[in-house]
Amino acid sequence: MLVDRHHRPLRDLRISITDRCNFRCRYCMPAEVFGPGYAFLPREDLLTYEEIERLAGMVVSMGVRKVRVTGGEPLIRRGVEDLVKMLASLRGLDDLALTTNGVLLARHAEALRLSGLHRVTVSLDALDEEVFSRMNGVGARVERVLEGIAEAKSCGLGVKINTVVQRGVNESEILPLVRWGRERGIPVRFIEFMDVGETNGWRMEQVVSAQEMIEIVSREFSLEKVSPAHEGEVARRYRFRGEGGEVGFITSVTQPFCGGCNRLRLSAEGKLFTCLFAENGFDVRELLRSGNEETLRLVLKGIWNDRTDRYSEERGPRKTNKVEMSYIGG
Ligand code: GTP
Ligand code: 5AD
Ligand code: SF4
Ligand code: SF4
Repeated sequence: MLVDRHHRPLRDLRISITDRCNFRCRYCMPAEVFGPGYAFLPREDLLTYEEIERLAGMVVSMGVRKVRVTGGEPLIRRGVEDLVKMLASLRGLDDLALTTNGVLLARHAEALRLSGLHRVTVSLDALDEEVFSRMNGVGARVERVLEGIAEAKSCGLGVKINTVVQRGVNESEILPLVRWGRERGIPVRFIEFMDVGETNGWRMEQVVSAQEMIEIVSREFSLEKVSPAHEGEVARRYRFRGEGGEVGFITSVTQPFCGGCNRLRLSAEGKLFTCLFAENGFDVRELLRSGNEETLRLVLKGIWNDRTDRYSEERGPRKTNKVEMSYIGG
């Protein structure tokens, strides 16, 4: 088994297939930074689906059990279903998921399911039309996302919701989203606003702590803690007392979870990152293109063995050149 310097195994690969998105969420891709002049990755720099499949196959043979396809927004890259089909046929993989903002989900859900995808995680920050529109930065309508979610469920895909909570922006949406998820049996996970990247203007005052969120939810619902399903689980889960449904809280700011972090991230241009808050990645594109599998295997092993990342637990000297979430994936 491959382990890093803190004895953490490699279990989870997150693959960004594009750094572009059709939303401009302020906490991720503020429109004034990611405007018409922004230099996104050129087409020829992107890994092909065959190259991604080759890398995924190698890390699955090295212990990865869970793969997530992400972006930017993965559903805007052409032929995403083809990639899903290739990944779904990797032997040894237990879990294949995709993260999306949901706006194009209704028209892709069935093909994704037929290609072998197990589940989707849909970002949904508000049910209120005005709050949702303000947060996504492009005036996208919440109905489209809700249709996507309904379609995904009816095709048999597993569905979870991710909600980033920012003080003064959408705390008022917490209870409506909890009610909505509970009625439909869909787990909603509330994420503390993180200091990821360098463009979102993060300030601690804007973080609503999980503890505060739990207090808000507890005004209406009685919650009981659910023990983690596996080592390294990101969300702290709670059950509605006496019922089946759940809500979760992702506490990367106030209660970091680096101790169990088993995630490796691949950018769309073929750089590997061992932490969401990294400044630099390991470029494996040329190795993948040249087809030198033995060297690549040794490089992958070395990258994981040498890994020491614990950004959220250390909160050491401020970094100034962290990669953007839209580039590295959620
Ligand atoms: P499930 O298996 O469905 O529970 O998914 P997951 O645990 O992989 O969670 P998901 O991919 O939905 O991640 C949810 C959010 O948690 C991300 O969008 C990030 O905001 C945050 N997150 C995920 N992984 C990490 C991580 O390694 N470090 C930090 N700091 N945050 C993370
Ligand atoms: N803090 C927390 N979560 C974030 N995401 C993007 N930016 C941030 C941030 N600054 C989450 C989105 C989405 C996933 C891709 O990443 O909610 O679910
Ligand atoms: Fe796009 Fe997701 Fe970032 Fe919003 S959070 S801008 S939907 S990648
Ligand atoms: Fe893993 Fe880095 Fe997140 Fe810690 S901060 S959980 S090491 S990705």
